[in-house]
Amino acid sequence: MSQSIRHLAAFADLGATNAARVLAHAAQLKQSGAKPLLAGKSIGLLFADPSLRTRTSMDQACHRLGGRALALDVGASTWQLETADGVRMDADKPEHVREAAPVLSQYLDGLGVRAFSRTGTVAEEDADQVLQAFKRHASVPVLNLESAREHPCQGMADMLTVQEEFGACAGTRIALSWAPHIKRLPRAVPNSVLLSAAAMGCQISVAAPIGYELAPGVMAQAQELASASGGSVTQTRDQAEALSGCQVLYAKAWGATAAAAPADEPALANWMPTLAHFDQATANAIFMHCLPVRRDVEIAAEVLDSARSRVITQAGNRLYVQMALLAWLFGHEF
Ligand code: CP
Repeated sequence: MSQSIRHLAAFADLGATNAARVLAHAAQLKQSGAKPLLAGKSIGLLFADPSLRTRTSMDQACHRLGGRALALDVGASTWQLETADGVRMDADKPEHVREAAPVLSQYLDGLGVRAFSRTGTVAEEDADQVLQAFKRHASVPVLNLESAREHPCQGMADMLTVQEEFGACAGTRIALSWAPHIKRLPRAVPNSVLLSAAAMGCQISVAAPIGYELAPGVMAQAQELASASGGSVTQTRDQAEALSGCQVLYAKAWGATAAAAPADEPALANWMPTLAHFDQATANAIFMHCLPVRRDVEIAAEVLDSARSRVITQAGNRLYVQMALLAWLFGHEF
């Protein structure tokens, strides 16, 4: 495998300096359109989990750069894939990533992979086994389309949205708040929002009930990024404290990090953002969420339908950020 291959399996593969360049390039692409930087290239998009935004925006990002995308539904239009090493493959997964990744690398110029956490455990999140296995065994660039640990395309698109709104990310006060849900959702999105915002110099307060704190490894990485960027990362169990003076309320449901359910989630229903939650925020504070969202379960419909909401803009920005990320992955400097 060539040493010069770029991957984006995790934010660490990109780093703060390249992230800033990608954001600037994405803003430029949004203003003035794209050049055919991917002409003649084909990108495989492997989905082990459903998607509306990522699937469509990646397809269009490839198309607008003059390349083509091939979406593959893992376990439906392809075989189920084993990614663990050393297992006897006598269950429901007839193909190993050790063969699949190098085979696909002969047909395709890049591989995007979506594979959510199956257990919700911190151990699975930290290992991020599927993306790391593709990164090890592919001989073409690998792009994370949401893994057990991270969703870097989402985090970067969200920073483009913040940059557009406030002129710059640095210094923007973001409340990243847990929200209720009927399911235990993965933590990849809040992890990536946190890492991208910390790298871009935002002041982030993470608000979550006891037992729902983001994993220590991600928090430590975010602290390190914030130290280097001049931003800050704090944690609180008091949602009102995080909301006080914030310019952005980014709310998202995620599952507990504690082994046992630490709190009765119905008792936490008042964590669902309503317009009243903005009372202590700045007057022009905006609301952000990655989508999909369950109205009046996770976020009050009155927030989603209000002038504060930027959820549609965020989703639109996925296209431009992914075009810029693809350009970076394929070695284009800007
Ligand atoms: N936000 C996001 O990644 O949306 P999809 O799950 O629809 O791709």
